[in-house]
Amino acid sequence: MKHYFILFLVCLLPCMHIHAKQTVIKVSTHELDLVFKTAPNGRLYQVYFGEKLLHEEEIEALPHYLSHVASDGSVCPRGWEVYPGSGAEDFFEPAFAIQHNDGNMTSILYYQSHEIRKIDTNVTETVIKMADDKYPVEVTLFYVSFARENVIKSWTEIKHKEKKPVDISLYASSMLYFQSSSYYLNEYSGDWAKEAQLSTQELVFGKKIIDTKLGSRAAMHAYPFFQLGLGEPAKEDQGKVLLGTIGWTGNFRFTFEVDNVNNLRVLSGINPYASTYQLKPAEIFKTPEFIYTLSHTGVGKASRNLHDWARNYQLKDGKGERLTLLNNWEATGYDFDQDILAGLMHEAKELGVDMFLLDDGWFGNKHPRLSDNAALGDWEVMRSKLPGGIPALVNAAKDAGVKFGIWVEPEMISPKSELFEKHPEWAIMLPNRETYYYRSQLVLDMSNPEVQEYAFGVLDKMMTENPDIAYFKWDCNSPVTNIYSPYLKEKQNHLYIDHVRGVYNLLDRFTTKYPGVAMMMCSGGGARCDYEGLKYYTEFWCSDNTDPIDRLYIQWNFSQFFPIKSMAAHVTGWNKDASVKFRTDVAMMCKFGFDISMEEMSREEQQYCIEAVASYNRLKKIILDGDFYRLVSPYEGNHTAVMHVSDSKEKAVLFTYDIHPLYKEKVLPVKLQGLEPMKRYRIQEINLMPGQKSTLPEDGMVYSGDYLMKIGLDALTANRIHSRMIEVTAL
Ligand code: GLA
Repeated sequence: MKHYFILFLVCLLPCMHIHAKQTVIKVSTHELDLVFKTAPNGRLYQVYFGEKLLHEEEIEALPHYLSHVASDGSVCPRGWEVYPGSGAEDFFEPAFAIQHNDGNMTSILYYQSHEIRKIDTNVTETVIKMADDKYPVEVTLFYVSFARENVIKSWTEIKHKEKKPVDISLYASSMLYFQSSSYYLNEYSGDWAKEAQLSTQELVFGKKIIDTKLGSRAAMHAYPFFQLGLGEPAKEDQGKVLLGTIGWTGNFRFTFEVDNVNNLRVLSGINPYASTYQLKPAEIFKTPEFIYTLSHTGVGKASRNLHDWARNYQLKDGKGERLTLLNNWEATGYDFDQDILAGLMHEAKELGVDMFLLDDGWFGNKHPRLSDNAALGDWEVMRSKLPGGIPALVNAAKDAGVKFGIWVEPEMISPKSELFEKHPEWAIMLPNRETYYYRSQLVLDMSNPEVQEYAFGVLDKMMTENPDIAYFKWDCNSPVTNIYSPYLKEKQNHLYIDHVRGVYNLLDRFTTKYPGVAMMMCSGGGARCDYEGLKYYTEFWCSDNTDPIDRLYIQWNFSQFFPIKSMAAHVTGWNKDASVKFRTDVAMMCKFGFDISMEEMSREEQQYCIEAVASYNRLKKIILDGDFYRLVSPYEGNHTAVMHVSDSKEKAVLFTYDIHPLYKEKVLPVKLQGLEPMKRYRIQEINLMPGQKSTLPEDGMVYSGDYLMKIGLDALTANRIHSRMIEVTAL
């Protein structure tokens, strides 16, 4: 009898997690539903992600995607598990892997509870608690949905109560599943001056990984965002497409895995490469946020979702003003003094921009910063070059009537610096191998709180002594090389993660103390551009490549994910085959600035630039905060066109660019978007060179929004490197 009782108990064990009622959890926006449901085994599965479902009772009854029927006929819930651990019956890439104190490397997570918190009328947070039944390990999944913007962000927290620390070797931010006939991935790769280059591939059985191991200048070769066309390659104005991006200014990884039944799994998170993390009992490991939106009418809509979300919730001063500026990097390089800078400040005033931005080369005394091979870390003004120090520069800017901004690279150290002489142990550098330098510099070990303190002290001192500094261009020119932290000692596998956390601590502290200072995120051009970083920065530098033709592609691609007001673009001397007007028209579609001396321009060009700044000031609300439409792709021909439309649809700004048309090439009208069909709009070409007359056939005419969107404007031409800026105003 006793034996039978034990047998009965043993039989019950596998059923321990059976929940009489299956729990359904819905994460919703105005247009999307992401639905999870527990299975009879007590585990949680994704049962739907797509267009909003209209009938609650059908949502409750959604079936699980059960992909495996065992030989005895029983159904095994393989696949679609919301946060699969390693070692269970799903044979594909897990979201989570841990080594427990007893050496066991498996985990199975069971649904415990969930809570839905309405943050406000637009934002809802869903928190789902999961736990292993054999080990005291808890995983909490967070989903924050933004109803109007149709954006969801999700992250995970991992915690345990084992006796000793555990090793976690996989810790995805999130896992999503898709069922479609085919999958097309748009990824973005790059290098210095070649940022965000688009390539497309169909995903077939197996894995495709996009990742980086560069540590600090993390996105130099691979970007932390992607597009996924479901059923067909992603298109601008039609089709189902997911846009996803990870908020992590360090090593990230996306894994796309097409499984045995042609379902696609998308895993996002920190790249676990060399980063098995030792988690102490009760310590919380929080992953970065994966941010995504799904559009059923193409990429354009998905981009506008992300732009709106970023301006409303994520980007620093997302709704605030932006400063137009004149930077001196392209104009002077390292070769400047106080008088040259004062001259440029007056040029800035003449141009009508808000600020003068002093770039690299202003610091270092024992090892002066005369080129890129010295002085990072020694943030004292170079007295020989700038005897009056920063105060004199701030005053000179004041006298000229512009604000003052300055370049810094606070996470770096030059081996030729006083800081390195004093604190070689603050650099990330191997003690027992030859040192490899990128741009003759090393990365400061931001996992070390002392180093964070030092970097904060530098910036804090600059601000205390010069409270009128309005802007920092915060650069990061080197990836992490020679991966070794003297501070972390035997915990080297924490370096990639703790370094980024250290950078965030620094940024958090600085921006909390100085919330009014605008900042540009720069990384040897655009090798940093992620949404966690953009919490602290008002904008990012898209590329050192300011050739306006290359920029059309680079800006086209960044605009897929980031709002126009976060994308800095400057008029420079790159590609003089392009007129100053063309170069200016390209920069004006973004957050506008100059990096060129007016002395390089003719009187006419100077006059044109002055008027361009005035037009930008008049229209910047629409350009920076309006809805952005990509109308003609540079990838589909020899032209491109974009437009910005005000919220009220009263005003729009259209930019058209002819890149390299063929002789007498037939050009098509540009069909506008986002206007009010019944409204009537006046068309006016602006930004013309002094004395130039518009050749736009529709210049000065009035058309309905309907006409402009269905028939369009003959704004493109067969001229090479030719551009137009057109103002569209409701009557
Ligand atoms: C990086 C930036 C440039 C410039 C230089 C200065 O390369 O991208 O814009 O600031 O550093 O060294």
